Amino acid sequence: MPEIDDIRPVTWHDGAVRIIDQTALPAELTYLDLTRVDALIAAIQRLAVRGAPALGVAGAYGVALAVLTGETDRIPALRAARPTAVNLAVGADRVAARLAEGFEAVLAEAHAVLTEDLTANRTLSVLGADWLLTRIDRRPLRLLTHCNAGALATGGWGTALGVVRELHARGLVEVVYVDETRPLLQGTRLTAWELARLGIPHRIQADGAAASTIVSAHVDAAVVGADRIAANGDTANKIGTLGVALACAHARIPFMVAAPTSTIDPATPTGAAIHVEQRAESELLTPAAPDTSRAHNPAFDVTPAQLVSALTTERGLLEPAHGDLPAQLWTP
Ligand code: MRU
Repeated sequence: MPEIDDIRPVTWHDGAVRIIDQTALPAELTYLDLTRVDALIAAIQRLAVRGAPALGVAGAYGVALAVLTGETDRIPALRAARPTAVNLAVGADRVAARLAEGFEAVLAEAHAVLTEDLTANRTLSVLGADWLLTRIDRRPLRLLTHCNAGALATGGWGTALGVVRELHARGLVEVVYVDETRPLLQGTRLTAWELARLGIPHRIQADGAAASTIVSAHVDAAVVGADRIAANGDTANKIGTLGVALACAHARIPFMVAAPTSTIDPATPTGAAIHVEQRAESELLTPAAPDTSRAHNPAFDVTPAQLVSALTTERGLLEPAHGDLPAQLWTP
């Protein structure tokens, strides 16, 4: 079993893209070595590998795999395997820009995508933790998170859970409320698994409990990740995030987004232009619904920038709710 800091959901291993099969967690920590691009695309679509920055690493190594196996014609399908997390296309495009230089250059670029994400997560975690401590008087903190934005969702370490880990390392976390994250239970299966390994106290709650927990003053701040951040700061994240943000606004507590700048998409002006992935109805209908029922199953929602108290990135911390827009993050 790897050391706690060695959770690496996507790596390159001996001519294969090696992923942790996140569908097997928490029962088993198993790795899959994917040797064809279409196998990687299938793994992405069934969420064996998921989370925006981890998808960026998968896109990057997927291009390296495509070069090795002579499947470069599958790169467009790879970069489009899931539409909302911008990191997937960003990672694939960044590495594909070096195709003409050959396999070694392509693989080196993919390694850089991974190592830069690891570094970014550490930096944005410290910045996010520092900011929360300036806004919250209570010690230790009671936090809430939605979905999984931990090591499993990134190159390693985590974004939202990175902030939690940083605060925990300072002895400042009382409890983390973990939204279960229907319908695929990334909170229950993945976030709780990570927190348990780290020895961080947590309580899993139904998604529908989040607003009540926040409004009844049991939470000091919510911290979530992001799949795509529009140029105006509107933020797409797992379905249910918007409700958390609204409850935080009502309770006047911080709602923090933790994300590397690779998740900011300057080509998307506002949240209205973000393509929200619609997933199979069966994810909601099985096993309890009547045979004739239909389902509405968006995988993500968009939180307006006005509700984002803080956006912590590796290049600095912004306050979108106060008109502090992320444009400065990509301005050279
Ligand atoms: O459908 P998923 O599990 O890929 O959704 C993941 C999320 O919504 C995460 O919060 C987001 O990608 C940020 S991960 C650091």
